[in-house]
Amino acid sequence: MSTVLNPVGELSEAVVNESMQKGSGDSVIKFGVIGYGYWGPNVVRNLDQQDGSKVIAVCDKSPTARKRIHKSYPHVKVVSETADLLSSTDIDAIAIVTPVWTHYELTKAALEHGKHVFVEKPFTSDSAQAEELINLAAKKKLMIMVDHTFLFTGAVKKIGQLLDEGALGKIYYYDSTRVNLGLFQHDVNVIWDLAPHDLSIIDHLIKETPEAVSATGQTHLNGHEDVAFITVYFPNKIIAHINVNWLSPVKVRTTLIGGEKKMLVWNDLEADEKIKIYDKGVHISSREGLYNLLVNYRSGDMWAPQVEQVEALKQELAYFVDCVSNNHKPFNDGEAGLRVVKLLEAANQSVSKRGALVHL
Ligand SMILES: NC(=O)c1ccc[n+]([C@@H]2O[C@H](COP(=O)([O-])OP(=O)(O)OC[C@H]3O[C@@H](n4cnc5c(N)ncnc54)[C@H](O)[C@@H]3O)[C@@H](O)[C@H]2O)c1
Repeated sequence: MSTVLNPVGELSEAVVNESMQKGSGDSVIKFGVIGYGYWGPNVVRNLDQQDGSKVIAVCDKSPTARKRIHKSYPHVKVVSETADLLSSTDIDAIAIVTPVWTHYELTKAALEHGKHVFVEKPFTSDSAQAEELINLAAKKKLMIMVDHTFLFTGAVKKIGQLLDEGALGKIYYYDSTRVNLGLFQHDVNVIWDLAPHDLSIIDHLIKETPEAVSATGQTHLNGHEDVAFITVYFPNKIIAHINVNWLSPVKVRTTLIGGEKKMLVWNDLEADEKIKIYDKGVHISSREGLYNLLVNYRSGDMWAPQVEQVEALKQELAYFVDCVSNNHKPFNDGEAGLRVVKLLEAANQSVSKRGALVHL
């Protein structure tokens, strides 16, 4: 199988764990996939196509979904009960691509059956569940990877590289707008649906532990908040703001990152030039004898760095296979999933108190 480099190699930590038995260098990792709704087909397609993995069986409760699987993958076993997947000794790892409220039960069952787990975002419905699963995986010497897909996009990798090189200088803020019309979810609000993307990105990019969250939101249609504004406070005056909305007439995926030296705009809907870096900034000085501050604005060049065009999920699944095969601890592991769940919980708590600050 091909070995895939960890896209942010420095964060990956080798697990010196000889008893991690699934996967042994060049072997093929055999998968069972649970859930073939909207996102599941992308997971199955990538696992089916890539070297180093094989889809043995796919499970979905819906007969329509099962028909679709059978049509696209006649060589794959199609089942309606998760027990049929979990009890198979032929399967090394389970990909869980079902709604959030099922993640805990299914991940727990998979770990108890000795399978590594690739589970969708958000990891679980609450942090107690995530902690229990992390402990269970450690006890069983199995791996959990949480699908934080955006960390594998060319854009986030490029931004991470720029921040690590200090190209923007000291970070002031991260400000994301992630809005569109729908898709309304039945089990979670817009925060739990869309904000995991930004929360996993800031968890990954901002090398500080968040201190507090304040969030406001409103329910209009189905009892779940469909519009929300989340603010995350970090040490060193770094602030992150995330606007998520299912009631927007247009789709917007724009993030601003302001730094002391330079400022960055990431428009994920741009085909080319997704990232633009502006040599713009503000410098405050005071002149002797003057009591007022002088605000100097700098406006220099703009440039658009090359961004790798990759299917993020393809890279992520290759990374999962590589981690399982070579006993590497992924950077988007259960702990990363737990950090995101804690921020989501804090945001929900704050929304229920109309924006009250929730300390982490
Ligand atoms: N990483 C991403 O960018 C991304 C994108 C979309 C969705 N997701 C995540 O993927 C997960 C699934 O989302 P979706 O939009 O595909 O949902 P969906 O409702 O479209 O599909 C879920 C499928 O799972 C099946 N299912 C549910 N419980 C089951 C069970 N116990 N056993 C077998 N089958 C079961 C359903 O029948 C359905 O076909 C969610 O956690 C969501 O947040 C991630």
